[in-house]
Amino acid sequence: MLLIQVAAFWMVIAPAQTKRVNQPPVIPKTWDDKAMNTLEIPLANPVGSPKAVPAAYYYQIPLRPIYKQYPVYAPDREPAGYMDRLKQLEPIILWDGGVRHPKLDTEEDFVKAGSLVFEASVFFNGDVGPVFNLSDVRNKTWWRKSGMPVNSKGIMPFMFYVVREKGKVELGTFSCAMCHTRIMSDGKVVNGAQGNIPFGAALAQSSPVPPPLNRALYSVPWLHPDPIEEVVTMNDREQRQLSAAIPAGVNARHRTSLVNPVQIPDLIGVKQRRYLDRTGLQPQNAPVDFMRYVAMNQGGDSLSSFGGFVPVGLNFKTPPDPTDSITVGGRYSDEELYALTQYVYSLKPPPNPNKPSRLTLRGKQLFVSEGCARCHSLPSYSNNRLTPTVGFDVPSDHRFKYDIMKTSVGTDSGLTMKTRRGTGYYKVPSLRGLWYRSMFGHSGWCANLEDWFDPRRLEPDYVPTGFRPNGNKPFPVLGHAYGLDLSADDRKALISFLKTL
Ligand code: HEC
Ligand code: HEC
Repeated sequence: MLLIQVAAFWMVIAPAQTKRVNQPPVIPKTWDDKAMNTLEIPLANPVGSPKAVPAAYYYQIPLRPIYKQYPVYAPDREPAGYMDRLKQLEPIILWDGGVRHPKLDTEEDFVKAGSLVFEASVFFNGDVGPVFNLSDVRNKTWWRKSGMPVNSKGIMPFMFYVVREKGKVELGTFSCAMCHTRIMSDGKVVNGAQGNIPFGAALAQSSPVPPPLNRALYSVPWLHPDPIEEVVTMNDREQRQLSAAIPAGVNARHRTSLVNPVQIPDLIGVKQRRYLDRTGLQPQNAPVDFMRYVAMNQGGDSLSSFGGFVPVGLNFKTPPDPTDSITVGGRYSDEELYALTQYVYSLKPPPNPNKPSRLTLRGKQLFVSEGCARCHSLPSYSNNRLTPTVGFDVPSDHRFKYDIMKTSVGTDSGLTMKTRRGTGYYKVPSLRGLWYRSMFGHSGWCANLEDWFDPRRLEPDYVPTGFRPNGNKPFPVLGHAYGLDLSADDRKALISFLKTL
């Protein structure tokens, strides 16, 4: 009887599996007008909630060709004659989004091809303006002062050399790999892990960011005063200091701010997350939502109207011509976005060296007895719910639409109340992979878990060990007091358990 059941089970499952591996997938449409305008949770002040450009506009944006790229070495590790050899090379397009593409016959081909999109540079040399140039990576002082790490081969895996025209070598930047690649302490590189490029320190060594770009990235025009005013009125030296205060693992990404930057998430395991971003900005119910997230974040949302403010619009008002490649940049085809999604979903964490022991077992018991599992529940150690920040009145319809807890964990409200990613919520983050991550709390104030669970962080004279919003001046890291009243021994046990996840 059992044998028959097993045989019947295989008859059902086997053809399905063969089909899944050997046939090309059905590619969902990324930019659908209705979906794009209901994609995100409304902002804390809904007047600023973005209205996306229409699909007719989006699909006129030219596709970005994906070129073959070459590694960037630390100055003393570069092979002799390397740049001269690159100058002899013909440009090679690996994927133009259309007829020229890597093998795409099966789901597995898509996963493989997705790694090309993950590493593909979006900006070249200095064409976004001043954010990282070829001259930076050719400059020893830039390397030294930014503390830029390299892997065991002397390669910096965050940026690439690109040949788009024979004889001209450019620096390619702003690929997913730039912020979502981690060099581990043994020099191994883990794609998709929380990135550890010292972005802020490197930027502080590059050319100044012009005020219109800063405004496009960070302005919140419906707030009075607009938080960007504080930044654009600073002199160059003050702006560089602010940028350098943002440590590796944290980023003042567009729609956040230099005073409310955000911890870079680990993308390994992202498929299990029901909300993307620390503020829970975008629900993720299907792979197409990931594709839409990327389309938005790689240029799409800068064309949206945030209550009349269009970040890259003419006079911050009207979206530019979709074919204006300097301002709009480009887009990926739906196939490329699908491949990227499957690639990121396929990423696995590195092997965890922290094995269970008597200490971690005690930590596990404390995790349960302290009530951590109420929010950080299995399998991903997140219940995938949102918590309202202090002082945010949850609109009544939100309780039906989103998965919101009653409890507020009481952390700083700046990121979710004063930025264009701010929804009024913070999601319960996953605790998987804590052992290789750093910079805890949504703006990364605590460099490691020991500091996150140090009760002294609540004191008014505390100076954060990660991101320091006030320079070297004190800044108590408030909220999420769970586990802070444990004895030193119990805290050690709890942390050792957390490092096994
Ligand atoms: C300039 C740095 C940077 C680049 C480039 C970048 N990201 Fe991110 N990414 C971030 C930061 C910072 C966050 C956190 C945003 C937040 O929480 O509000 C983030 C968040 C995400 C999230 C949400 C995950 C979660 O659990 O909340 C996804 C998915 C993601 N990025 C994918 C990508 C992909 C795919 C690419 C390339 C197409 C990319 N990112 C390029 C910095 C970057
Ligand atoms: C009521 C829900 C809740 C409880 C209970 C809770 N947490 Fe959290 N936890 C959160 C939220 C929400 C955040 C993110 C806060 C933020 O972004 O400001 C968080 C953040 C964290 C972080 C930092 C992760 C990161 O990436 O920044 C760790 C570590 C953590 N919690 C561990 C624990 C442990 C251990 C316990 C029990 C001692 C616990 N939490 C209890 C909701 C909770």
